[in-house]
Amino acid sequence: MTCSALTETRRNLSKQPEHRSMAKLRIDAKVLLFVETIYSRLGRDIAELLVHNRIKYKVDVVGKSLPVLTNLDKGKFAVIVFENLTKYLTMDNWNRELLDKYCREYGVGVVGFHPVSEEVLIGSQLKGFPIFVHTKMNLKNAALNPASNVLRLTRAGETAWGNLPGNDWTVFAPNHSTYEPLEWASPNSELPSPFVSDHGAARLLYTVVQDHGTYDGIQRVLFGSGLGFWLHRLLLLDALTHLSQGQISLGLNRYVLIDIDDIFVGEKGTRLKPPDVEALLSSQKRLQAMVSGFKFNLGFSGMYFHHGTDEENAGEDLLMEHIDDFSWFSHMWNHKQPHLYDNYTHLEMDMKLNKNFATEKNIPTDSGYSVAPHHAGVYPVHEYLYEAWKKVWNVKVTSTEEYPHLRPARLRRGFIHRNIMVLPRQTCGLFTHTYLIEKYPGGREKLDENIQGGELFQSIVFNPINIFMTHMSNYGNDRLALYTFESVLKFTQCWTNLRLLSTLPVELGEKYFQMFPEEEDPIWGNPCDDSRHIKTWSHNKTCQQLPNFLVIGPQKTGTTALYSFLSMHPNINSNLNSIDTFEEIQFFNGKNYYRGLDWYMGFFPVPINSSSQYLFEKSATYFDGEQVPKRAHALLPQAKLVTILISPAKRAYSWYQHMRAHGDQVALNYSFYEVITASESSNRPLRDLRNRCLLPGKYSQHLERWLTYYSSSQLFIIDGEELRTAPVDVMNSVQKFLKITPPFDYATHLRFDKKKGFYCQIINEDKTKCLGRSKGRKYPQMDERSLKLLQRYYLSHNTALVKLLKRLGHQNIPGWLKMDLSDTMVT
Ligand code: A3P
Repeated sequence: MTCSALTETRRNLSKQPEHRSMAKLRIDAKVLLFVETIYSRLGRDIAELLVHNRIKYKVDVVGKSLPVLTNLDKGKFAVIVFENLTKYLTMDNWNRELLDKYCREYGVGVVGFHPVSEEVLIGSQLKGFPIFVHTKMNLKNAALNPASNVLRLTRAGETAWGNLPGNDWTVFAPNHSTYEPLEWASPNSELPSPFVSDHGAARLLYTVVQDHGTYDGIQRVLFGSGLGFWLHRLLLLDALTHLSQGQISLGLNRYVLIDIDDIFVGEKGTRLKPPDVEALLSSQKRLQAMVSGFKFNLGFSGMYFHHGTDEENAGEDLLMEHIDDFSWFSHMWNHKQPHLYDNYTHLEMDMKLNKNFATEKNIPTDSGYSVAPHHAGVYPVHEYLYEAWKKVWNVKVTSTEEYPHLRPARLRRGFIHRNIMVLPRQTCGLFTHTYLIEKYPGGREKLDENIQGGELFQSIVFNPINIFMTHMSNYGNDRLALYTFESVLKFTQCWTNLRLLSTLPVELGEKYFQMFPEEEDPIWGNPCDDSRHIKTWSHNKTCQQLPNFLVIGPQKTGTTALYSFLSMHPNINSNLNSIDTFEEIQFFNGKNYYRGLDWYMGFFPVPINSSSQYLFEKSATYFDGEQVPKRAHALLPQAKLVTILISPAKRAYSWYQHMRAHGDQVALNYSFYEVITASESSNRPLRDLRNRCLLPGKYSQHLERWLTYYSSSQLFIIDGEELRTAPVDVMNSVQKFLKITPPFDYATHLRFDKKKGFYCQIINEDKTKCLGRSKGRKYPQMDERSLKLLQRYYLSHNTALVKLLKRLGHQNIPGWLKMDLSDTMVT
């Protein structure tokens, strides 16, 4: 592919339409995607493209009623996309009118894909529009209309020569000035008569058309084929920007960093020779002309320096003469995977060896970047690696393909751990052993396909920051990497208006998290759920050191009693105590989460027999923690959850008493009534106390959040009053729910203790062991005024809770819930 039209003026980006208008204030940057079924192929392709480009969307199955389109005076969607244009055209009048009205009022456009039709249509009119279609066409040689104002990211490059994928293209024949072609192609076979002009010459066939909206006030872009043709993926992105008046808009900067992970690692005979190094240098110059600031980023494992033939060693010497031409980063000294080090000192020592090597050779040591062989230790995290990286190399940024998983690539993300930024890497298809073209999976044809609009090209277009991993062997031998990157970047310049840039990894990291600050917090997954992750996880670790179930709270509902009853069971093990929070680990809800998975697992004993032993932890603040269900589910998707509910009013009062007992100054200074009636104008500490006191009691809200991640069959709700008065029955149901065998006979282990006023563990006939003084405290009853106020406060939440319990199949609504609701009615 050449792109002879590349001239200086083409880079004049200020000429690119911005597509923005005032309407952006009234519409959310979200796509409404109508699909035929949730499984339809094109619908999935579109959704995947949106996900890859982090464009928000909502999917709706066409044919049902319309989703709500507005929220107060704001439009909820900036573009409407129909996977099947015919469904849009044949929508029932009522919905169509609503949709059209919405589009006109909010300046929202429509994208439609003409479906593959069963029959051959020739000159068939699109219902209600002055445009005709011909279907089942076989086409070749696509090109874009350079005058189209839809093009922004996409550039009308040359012609995409060759057959277009599929033989079921639809082409458009407009009969109104509202239409303008966006893409056209040539027929690949004899044309039926309507296409042949007077002179017998074939016309250009319009494969994508733009409707300027002068016919009915709505702008559209119509596609004559799906996303199988790579150019349509770009055009769809531009159509979304144009039709949303710039509200959905991707930046035009694309950063590219190419790591050569193993610059000295490679078998004798496959390593770089002097001419390869020269080729590397001259290719770098050409790349610099395309990518501002570009330098190859060389990762070194010093131990393998000069391990080649004489010629290969001379190649490395030449490389050393050009140290300043490249960027450098430390790989591992001996290329050993960091997760194989169970001893921190050894790991640190090996890193120091590499540093000594660098210092000796005058290789810069201040890049702040590093990666590890096979991504080992980066994710899943090997804490020693992060520790040693920081200490020896002052590493600030690294990268991996593995977070959260290698596939699908579009979902790769970054995170920050121990102040080290972990960036997602992209795959370029060149691995250690792909050093000859015949070793490239699928051969040259596949490589060229990846470059010319395929995966590699799309990776550059869809990811604002691309970090590619390559190896030394890709630069010797057939020099596949040089060919690949020069070609794909040329192709990118030819077909897009993207600005290609490069910068230092630390700056890339900063840019990445400025762009995606929501990714800073990691989400720890279970390494055993991903076969690649287990391979790079220390063999000393086991995924059995994770809980099978969680007691999630809320606080003051009897969670300690439940915890101690469960712990009495010989086959149930709780976590070890934490020095900060005693029996609770409080991992998923607070700062502890940033301590990482190893820290969490350190609290659990390795079960001797994992099939009959159950591990659990109880952290009562999990219940209402915003992040907790998401985090817990990412790590423990199969876990069961146990929650206890009592009257939220009573719970709030118990919590207030708890705070007083712990010497909380605000609780001591204000009465309960003053706390719960604190308003927005009250002082900050009082407002905080009020929120912490009242918010956990909005049970239905919190439970719904858990149920967006866990299925209802994983959740067990205990009536806290029953736990207090009939713990044996409750413990039997809990055991049944958890499927714990053999069942433990709580009737012979729990007894009501008159002095304590609660059930306690039987030690012998005369003696029981009760919970400490802080559980089952003695305090005056709640005043009537506060109780009434709280019953009113929780009314809507309690009503929603009744509904939720019914939905979950609970036959008996707890007595306290009925009471709270009925008492409210009386007042
Ligand atoms: P009070 O101290 O206000 O009475 P948590 O352990 O979740 O903080 O809950 C403490 C509450 O558990 C106590 O609140 C108490 O009412 C209740 N509870 C239920 N069964 C208990 C038991 N067997 N022993 C002690 N407290 C129990």
